[in-house]
Amino acid sequence: MDWVKDRVLEREVRTPDGTFSLTMDREDLSFLYPGMVRYTLQATRGGEPCALFRTSTYEYSPTVPYDAESVARQKMEEWARLLQEKPLLFLEQHARDGIRTAVPDLPADAVIIQGSPRPDGNCSILAGWAADAVREAGARPRVVFLDDLVIHSCIGCYRCYNTGECTFDDDMGGVLASLQGASLLVICSPVYTNTVPGGLKTFLDRCQTYHARRRLFDPDRPKKGLLLSVAGRKGRSNFACVTAVVSAYFRNLGIVPSGEVLIDAVDEIRDVRTLQGLDEKVRDAVRESLRLGQKAPARR
Ligand SMILES: Cc1cc2nc3c(=O)[nH]c(=O)nc-3n(C[C@H](O)[C@H](O)[C@H](O)COP(=O)(O)O)c2cc1C
Repeated sequence: MDWVKDRVLEREVRTPDGTFSLTMDREDLSFLYPGMVRYTLQATRGGEPCALFRTSTYEYSPTVPYDAESVARQKMEEWARLLQEKPLLFLEQHARDGIRTAVPDLPADAVIIQGSPRPDGNCSILAGWAADAVREAGARPRVVFLDDLVIHSCIGCYRCYNTGECTFDDDMGGVLASLQGASLLVICSPVYTNTVPGGLKTFLDRCQTYHARRRLFDPDRPKKGLLLSVAGRKGRSNFACVTAVVSAYFRNLGIVPSGEVLIDAVDEIRDVRTLQGLDEKVRDAVRESLRLGQKAPARR
Protein backbone atom coordinates (compact mmCIF):
# COMPACT_ATOMS: atom_id res chain seq x y z
CA MET A 1 0.00 0.00 0.00
CA ASP A 2 2.52 2.57 -1.21
CA TRP A 3 1.63 5.76 -2.98
CA VAL A 4 3.19 9.19 -3.51
CA LYS A 5 3.18 11.37 -0.40
CA ASP A 6 4.64 14.91 -0.29
CA ARG A 7 5.19 17.15 2.72
CA VAL A 8 3.34 20.42 2.06
CA LEU A 9 3.77 22.28 5.37
CA GLU A 10 5.68 21.86 8.60
CA ARG A 11 5.72 24.07 11.68
CA GLU A 12 6.50 23.98 15.36
CA VAL A 13 4.37 25.45 18.14
CA ARG A 14 6.04 26.01 21.54
CA THR A 15 3.68 25.93 24.51
CA PRO A 16 4.09 25.60 28.29
CA ASP A 17 2.91 21.99 27.81
CA GLY A 18 5.62 21.11 25.33
CA THR A 19 6.58 21.69 21.74
CA PHE A 20 4.16 20.41 19.10
CA SER A 21 5.13 19.60 15.52
CA LEU A 22 2.43 20.14 12.93
CA THR A 23 2.72 18.60 9.49
CA MET A 24 0.55 18.61 6.40
CA ASP A 25 1.05 15.92 3.75
CA ARG A 26 -0.43 15.56 0.31
CA GLU A 27 -1.14 12.05 -0.98
CA ASP A 28 -1.92 11.23 -4.59
CA LEU A 29 -4.74 8.63 -4.49
CA SER A 30 -5.44 8.76 -8.22
CA PHE A 31 -4.88 4.98 -8.35
CA LEU A 32 -8.26 4.76 -6.56
CA TYR A 33 -10.22 7.52 -8.31
CA PRO A 34 -9.19 10.00 -11.02
CA GLY A 35 -7.65 13.10 -9.45
CA MET A 36 -8.21 12.02 -5.84
CA VAL A 37 -5.82 13.85 -3.51
CA ARG A 38 -5.87 13.45 0.26
CA TYR A 39 -4.43 15.92 2.76
CA THR A 40 -3.31 14.65 6.17
CA LEU A 41 -2.60 16.93 9.12
CA GLN A 42 -0.80 15.48 12.07
CA ALA A 43 0.26 16.96 15.39
CA THR A 44 2.94 15.24 17.46
CA ARG A 45 4.49 16.05 20.82
CA GLY A 46 7.81 14.43 21.63
CA GLY A 47 7.34 12.18 18.58
CA GLU A 48 3.96 10.91 19.92
CA PRO A 49 0.94 11.50 17.63
CA CYS A 50 -1.75 13.56 19.36
CA ALA A 51 -4.06 14.79 16.58
CA LEU A 52 -5.04 13.68 13.10
CA PHE A 53 -7.21 15.29 10.44
CA ARG A 54 -7.76 14.16 6.87
CA THR A 55 -9.72 15.53 3.98
CA SER A 56 -9.82 14.55 0.31
CA THR A 57 -10.80 16.32 -2.88
CA TYR A 58 -13.74 13.90 -3.32
CA GLU A 59 -15.46 15.23 -0.20
CA TYR A 60 -16.30 18.52 -1.91
CA SER A 61 -19.34 18.46 -4.22
CA PRO A 62 -19.24 20.71 -7.29
CA THR A 63 -21.34 23.49 -5.72
CA VAL A 64 -19.41 23.68 -2.42
CA PRO A 65 -17.39 26.94 -2.38
CA TYR A 66 -14.20 25.54 -0.82
CA ASP A 67 -11.72 22.78 -1.53
CA ALA A 68 -9.67 20.18 0.31
CA GLU A 69 -6.34 22.01 0.20
CA SER A 70 -7.67 25.32 1.54
CA VAL A 71 -9.64 23.50 4.26
CA ALA A 72 -6.49 21.62 5.31
CA ARG A 73 -4.43 24.83 5.40
CA GLN A 74 -7.12 26.61 7.40
CA LYS A 75 -7.28 23.69 9.82
CA MET A 76 -3.52 23.94 10.33
CA GLU A 77 -3.92 27.63 11.26
CA GLU A 78 -6.74 26.75 13.70
CA TRP A 79 -4.63 24.03 15.32
CA ALA A 80 -1.65 26.37 15.73
CA ARG A 81 -3.85 29.08 17.26
CA LEU A 82 -5.60 26.73 19.69
CA LEU A 83 -2.30 25.11 20.68
CA GLN A 84 -0.82 28.50 21.51
CA GLU A 85 -3.87 29.58 23.50
CA LYS A 86 -5.11 26.34 25.12
CA PRO A 87 -2.85 23.32 24.50
CA LEU A 88 -4.71 21.10 26.97
CA LEU A 89 -8.06 21.82 25.35
CA PHE A 90 -6.50 20.93 21.98
CA LEU A 91 -5.31 17.57 23.39
CA GLU A 92 -8.72 16.88 24.90
CA GLN A 93 -10.55 17.67 21.67
CA HIS A 94 -8.34 15.33 19.66
CA ALA A 95 -8.04 12.48 22.16
CA ARG A 96 -9.98 10.09 19.90
CA ASP A 97 -8.52 11.07 16.53
CA GLY A 98 -7.54 8.08 14.42
CA ILE A 99 -9.08 5.63 16.89
CA ARG A 100 -11.32 3.11 15.14
CA THR A 101 -14.86 2.71 16.54
CA ALA A 102 -15.31 -0.67 18.23
CA VAL A 103 -18.01 -2.67 16.46
CA PRO A 104 -19.62 -5.91 17.60
CA ASP A 105 -17.51 -8.54 15.96
CA LEU A 106 -19.06 -11.91 15.09
CA PRO A 107 -16.21 -13.79 13.43
CA ALA A 108 -17.30 -15.73 10.36
CA ASP A 109 -15.70 -17.69 7.53
CA ALA A 110 -18.67 -17.10 5.27
CA VAL A 111 -21.01 -14.12 5.39
CA ILE A 112 -24.39 -14.85 3.79
CA ILE A 113 -26.45 -11.79 2.94
CA GLN A 114 -30.17 -12.53 2.86
CA GLY A 115 -31.32 -9.63 0.71
CA SER A 116 -35.07 -10.28 0.46
CA PRO A 117 -37.32 -8.21 2.74
CA ARG A 118 -39.36 -11.42 3.26
CA PRO A 119 -37.83 -13.23 6.24
CA ASP A 120 -39.44 -16.53 5.27
CA GLY A 121 -39.26 -16.37 1.48
CA ASN A 122 -37.19 -18.22 -1.09
CA CYS A 123 -33.96 -16.27 -0.50
CA SER A 124 -34.19 -17.24 3.18
CA ILE A 125 -34.40 -20.89 2.15
CA LEU A 126 -31.34 -20.47 -0.11
CA ALA A 127 -29.47 -18.68 2.68
CA GLY A 128 -30.33 -21.56 5.07
CA TRP A 129 -28.97 -24.17 2.64
CA ALA A 130 -25.83 -22.09 2.15
CA ALA A 131 -25.31 -21.80 5.92
CA ASP A 132 -25.76 -25.58 6.35
CA ALA A 133 -23.14 -26.25 3.68
CA VAL A 134 -20.69 -23.90 5.42
CA ARG A 135 -21.28 -25.65 8.76
CA GLU A 136 -20.93 -29.10 7.18
CA ALA A 137 -17.57 -27.97 5.81
CA GLY A 138 -16.46 -27.22 9.39
CA ALA A 139 -16.54 -23.43 8.86
CA ARG A 140 -18.49 -20.65 10.58
CA PRO A 141 -21.40 -19.03 8.69
CA ARG A 142 -23.05 -15.75 9.57
CA VAL A 143 -26.43 -15.16 7.93
CA VAL A 144 -27.37 -11.49 7.80
CA PHE A 145 -31.05 -10.63 7.35
CA LEU A 146 -30.65 -7.13 5.96
CA ASP A 147 -34.25 -6.18 6.68
CA ASP A 148 -33.66 -6.66 10.43
CA LEU A 149 -30.86 -4.09 10.44
CA VAL A 150 -30.69 -0.34 10.45
CA ILE A 151 -28.41 0.63 7.59
CA HIS A 152 -28.41 4.23 6.38
CA SER A 153 -27.91 4.92 2.68
CA CYS A 154 -24.43 5.92 1.55
CA ILE A 155 -24.32 9.70 1.18
CA GLY A 156 -21.18 9.79 -0.99
CA CYS A 157 -19.20 11.86 1.52
CA TYR A 158 -16.02 9.86 0.80
CA ARG A 159 -14.95 10.27 4.42
CA CYS A 160 -14.24 6.55 4.67
CA TYR A 161 -11.16 7.27 2.54
CA ASN A 162 -9.85 9.52 5.35
CA THR A 163 -10.37 7.23 8.32
CA GLY A 164 -11.46 3.75 7.17
CA GLU A 165 -14.71 4.42 9.08
CA CYS A 166 -18.16 5.34 7.80
CA THR A 167 -19.83 8.61 8.75
CA PHE A 168 -22.73 6.52 10.08
CA ASP A 169 -22.45 4.43 13.23
CA ASP A 170 -25.19 1.88 12.52
CA ASP A 171 -25.62 -1.88 12.05
CA MET A 172 -23.33 -1.90 9.02
CA GLY A 173 -20.30 -1.73 11.32
CA GLY A 174 -20.95 -5.23 12.69
CA VAL A 175 -21.54 -6.71 9.23
CA LEU A 176 -18.29 -5.21 7.94
CA ALA A 177 -16.44 -6.59 10.97
CA SER A 178 -17.64 -10.11 10.06
CA LEU A 179 -16.91 -9.59 6.39
CA GLN A 180 -13.40 -8.44 7.20
CA GLY A 181 -12.17 -11.89 8.22
CA ALA A 182 -14.39 -14.06 5.97
CA SER A 183 -13.19 -15.95 2.90
CA LEU A 184 -16.63 -16.21 1.29
CA LEU A 185 -19.47 -13.76 0.71
CA VAL A 186 -22.79 -15.18 -0.49
CA ILE A 187 -25.37 -12.72 -1.82
CA CYS A 188 -28.97 -14.02 -1.88
CA SER A 189 -31.16 -11.67 -3.90
CA PRO A 190 -34.65 -11.70 -5.33
CA VAL A 191 -35.23 -9.77 -8.55
CA TYR A 192 -37.15 -6.60 -7.74
CA THR A 193 -38.08 -4.35 -10.67
CA ASN A 194 -35.38 -6.08 -12.70
CA THR A 195 -32.64 -5.41 -10.14
CA VAL A 196 -31.75 -6.01 -6.48
CA PRO A 197 -34.16 -4.80 -3.74
CA GLY A 198 -33.49 -1.35 -2.27
CA GLY A 199 -32.20 -2.66 1.08
CA LEU A 200 -29.63 -4.84 -0.62
CA LYS A 201 -28.52 -1.99 -2.86
CA THR A 202 -28.03 0.15 0.25
CA PHE A 203 -25.84 -2.60 1.73
CA LEU A 204 -23.80 -2.87 -1.49
CA ASP A 205 -23.23 0.90 -1.58
CA ARG A 206 -22.25 1.03 2.09
CA CYS A 207 -19.50 -1.53 1.40
CA GLN A 208 -17.60 1.46 -0.01
CA THR A 209 -16.13 1.64 3.50
CA TYR A 210 -14.79 -1.88 2.96
CA HIS A 211 -13.28 -0.69 -0.34
CA ALA A 212 -11.57 2.22 1.44
CA ARG A 213 -10.27 -0.04 4.22
CA ARG A 214 -8.98 -2.69 1.85
CA ARG A 215 -7.17 -0.23 -0.42
CA LEU A 216 -5.84 2.26 2.16
CA PHE A 217 -5.84 0.65 5.62
CA ASP A 218 -6.13 -3.17 6.01
CA PRO A 219 -5.50 -5.34 2.92
CA ASP A 220 -7.74 -8.16 4.36
CA ARG A 221 -7.83 -11.79 3.21
CA PRO A 222 -8.89 -12.77 -0.32
CA LYS A 223 -12.55 -13.54 -0.78
CA LYS A 224 -14.77 -15.50 -3.11
CA GLY A 225 -18.25 -14.28 -3.99
CA LEU A 226 -21.28 -16.43 -4.79
CA LEU A 227 -24.62 -15.15 -6.08
CA LEU A 228 -27.92 -16.97 -5.38
CA SER A 229 -30.90 -15.28 -6.98
CA VAL A 230 -34.61 -15.88 -7.59
CA ALA A 231 -36.93 -14.21 -10.13
CA GLY A 232 -40.69 -14.39 -10.28
CA ARG A 233 -40.79 -14.42 -14.08
CA LYS A 234 -39.56 -17.09 -16.43
CA GLY A 235 -36.29 -16.64 -18.30
CA ARG A 236 -32.63 -15.92 -17.60
CA SER A 237 -32.92 -12.39 -19.00
CA ASN A 238 -34.70 -11.45 -15.76
CA PHE A 239 -31.33 -11.72 -13.98
CA ALA A 240 -29.42 -9.40 -16.35
CA CYS A 241 -29.35 -6.43 -13.95
CA VAL A 242 -28.87 -8.44 -10.76
CA THR A 243 -25.85 -10.26 -12.21
CA ALA A 244 -24.43 -6.99 -13.59
CA VAL A 245 -24.87 -5.17 -10.25
CA VAL A 246 -23.44 -7.99 -8.15
CA SER A 247 -20.47 -8.60 -10.46
CA ALA A 248 -19.66 -4.86 -10.49
CA TYR A 249 -19.82 -4.94 -6.69
CA PHE A 250 -17.53 -7.99 -6.44
CA ARG A 251 -15.06 -6.41 -8.89
CA ASN A 252 -14.98 -3.14 -6.96
CA LEU A 253 -14.13 -4.96 -3.73
CA GLY A 254 -11.62 -7.38 -5.26
CA ILE A 255 -13.94 -10.34 -4.49
CA VAL A 256 -13.41 -13.18 -6.98
CA PRO A 257 -16.75 -14.55 -8.30
CA SER A 258 -17.00 -18.29 -7.67
CA GLY A 259 -20.34 -18.98 -9.34
CA GLU A 260 -24.04 -18.26 -9.40
CA VAL A 261 -27.29 -20.17 -8.99
CA LEU A 262 -30.20 -18.39 -10.70
CA ILE A 263 -33.74 -19.71 -10.23
CA ASP A 264 -36.45 -18.25 -12.46
CA ALA A 265 -40.25 -18.71 -12.69
CA VAL A 266 -40.57 -18.64 -8.90
CA ASP A 267 -43.99 -16.96 -9.14
CA GLU A 268 -45.26 -20.27 -10.60
CA ILE A 269 -43.11 -22.55 -8.44
CA ARG A 270 -43.80 -20.48 -5.27
CA ASP A 271 -41.42 -22.54 -3.10
CA VAL A 272 -37.89 -23.38 -4.24
CA ARG A 273 -37.91 -26.46 -1.99
CA THR A 274 -40.15 -28.16 -4.56
CA LEU A 275 -37.34 -28.06 -7.15
CA GLN A 276 -35.61 -31.42 -7.11
CA GLY A 277 -31.88 -31.30 -6.54
CA LEU A 278 -31.76 -27.52 -6.03
CA ASP A 279 -30.62 -27.69 -2.42
CA GLU A 280 -27.73 -29.98 -3.41
CA LYS A 281 -26.83 -27.59 -6.26
CA VAL A 282 -26.67 -24.67 -3.81
CA ARG A 283 -24.67 -26.70 -1.26
CA ASP A 284 -22.24 -27.79 -4.00
CA ALA A 285 -21.75 -24.20 -5.12
CA VAL A 286 -21.01 -23.16 -1.52
CA ARG A 287 -18.63 -26.10 -0.93
CA GLU A 288 -16.82 -25.36 -4.18
CA SER A 289 -16.52 -21.65 -3.28
CA LEU A 290 -15.10 -22.51 0.15
CA ARG A 291 -12.64 -24.91 -1.42
CA LEU A 292 -11.51 -22.28 -3.95
CA GLY A 293 -11.21 -19.77 -1.13
CA GLN A 294 -8.71 -21.92 0.71
CA LYS A 295 -5.13 -20.84 0.40
CA ALA A 296 -3.15 -22.78 -2.20
CA PRO A 297 -0.29 -24.70 -0.55
CA ALA A 298 2.98 -22.80 -0.72
CA ARG A 299 5.25 -23.88 -3.59
CA ARG A 300 8.72 -25.09 -2.83
C1 LIG B 1 -41.60 -5.21 -5.55
C2 LIG B 1 -41.35 -6.47 -6.33
C3 LIG B 1 -40.79 -6.37 -7.59
C4 LIG B 1 -40.54 -7.51 -8.34
N1 LIG B 1 -40.00 -7.40 -9.56
C5 LIG B 1 -39.72 -8.50 -10.29
C6 LIG B 1 -39.11 -8.38 -11.57
O1 LIG B 1 -38.81 -7.31 -12.05
N2 LIG B 1 -38.86 -9.53 -12.27
C7 LIG B 1 -39.16 -10.76 -11.77
O2 LIG B 1 -38.87 -11.76 -12.44
N3 LIG B 1 -39.73 -10.89 -10.55
C8 LIG B 1 -40.03 -9.81 -9.80
N4 LIG B 1 -40.60 -9.93 -8.54
C9 LIG B 1 -40.90 -11.28 -8.02
C10 LIG B 1 -39.83 -11.76 -7.05
O3 LIG B 1 -38.57 -11.84 -7.65
C11 LIG B 1 -40.21 -13.15 -6.50
O4 LIG B 1 -41.47 -13.05 -5.84
C12 LIG B 1 -39.21 -13.73 -5.53
O5 LIG B 1 -39.57 -15.03 -5.21
C13 LIG B 1 -39.12 -12.97 -4.22
O6 LIG B 1 -38.08 -13.51 -3.44
P1 LIG B 1 -38.31 -14.04 -1.95
O7 LIG B 1 -39.22 -15.22 -2.06
O8 LIG B 1 -36.95 -14.42 -1.49
O9 LIG B 1 -38.89 -12.92 -1.16
C14 LIG B 1 -40.87 -8.79 -7.79
C15 LIG B 1 -41.44 -8.88 -6.51
C16 LIG B 1 -41.69 -7.73 -5.80
C17 LIG B 1 -42.33 -7.83 -4.42
